[in-house]
Amino acid sequence: MQTQPQIHCIVVGNPIAHSKSPELHQAFARQTNINISYQKQLCPNDKDSFTAVVEAFFHGGGTGMNVTVPFKEMAFELCQQRGRLSAYATQAKAVNTLAMINGQLFGDNTDGRGLVNHLQQLNWPLNNAKVLLLGAGGASRGVLLPLIQAGVKSIHIANRTEQKAHDLLAELNNFSLKTSASGLDNLPFSKVDIVINATSIGLSTDNQLPFSQDLTASYAYDMMYGKPSVVLQHFEKQGAKISDGLGMLIHQGALSFELWTGKKVDMMQLGQII
Ligand code: ATR
Repeated sequence: MQTQPQIHCIVVGNPIAHSKSPELHQAFARQTNINISYQKQLCPNDKDSFTAVVEAFFHGGGTGMNVTVPFKEMAFELCQQRGRLSAYATQAKAVNTLAMINGQLFGDNTDGRGLVNHLQQLNWPLNNAKVLLLGAGGASRGVLLPLIQAGVKSIHIANRTEQKAHDLLAELNNFSLKTSASGLDNLPFSKVDIVINATSIGLSTDNQLPFSQDLTASYAYDMMYGKPSVVLQHFEKQGAKISDGLGMLIHQGALSFELWTGKKVDMMQLGQII
């Protein structure tokens, strides 16, 4: 029997102990017959240390690196300075996936497409949808381009710090869809098709809803996963279909795996992996 050469991949973050990426990628590798080693790598939180980890990894023959908090922006800057960026990473101003392609560092961002692929797997109707995006940080920025490409009708960005919502909106002026922005507490409507929570509200112990109780949606998604957030609980009570972000995590991982190996993961055959 011929054994395949092993490919080496890592996920770099700080903290990193909680990462589910090794389990995900081992499951993708089993399905696609890839021989993979996938390790977690803790890195000190500074650009020199991160750069040294990236250099040592690819110099040593590593195939692919996932990048998580707090290094996504540093990975973006590194690729800007000495590599290439995908259109998704350019728009997101953040990189979650690194590869060495033809001897050049390549940075991609699979988070937003991971979200859209999960929404499509759930059969939530994105085409022509009126979307409300909660939050104006990196997580929100990363999903804008894939949502636009999926054919949504409009995107309203609402953020606790209203100015940040307007600043993010200004980055969308090249696109023709309808866009708008506001604070969370002065939304200009009370009904949307799909609401996507890209804030870290779920992490706070405060159970106060940051927007009006009257806000309704047909579908509500939270990019975080685990215990349902106060946001999901609100929309579920009103009869909306809801989902947390575990599927997004799996899909973004599958897209990284595809970039590194050329193998497409069949989500329907994956079963429960984490
Ligand atoms: P990420 O990269 O995950 O987007 P971030 O850039 O720090 O992280 O952004 C966090 C987002 O969650 C911001 O939109 C933040 O709102 P502010 O810009 O007003 O800080 C939002 N956020 C965090 N905690 C929140 C809370 N308790 N209520 C409402 N919004 C919150």
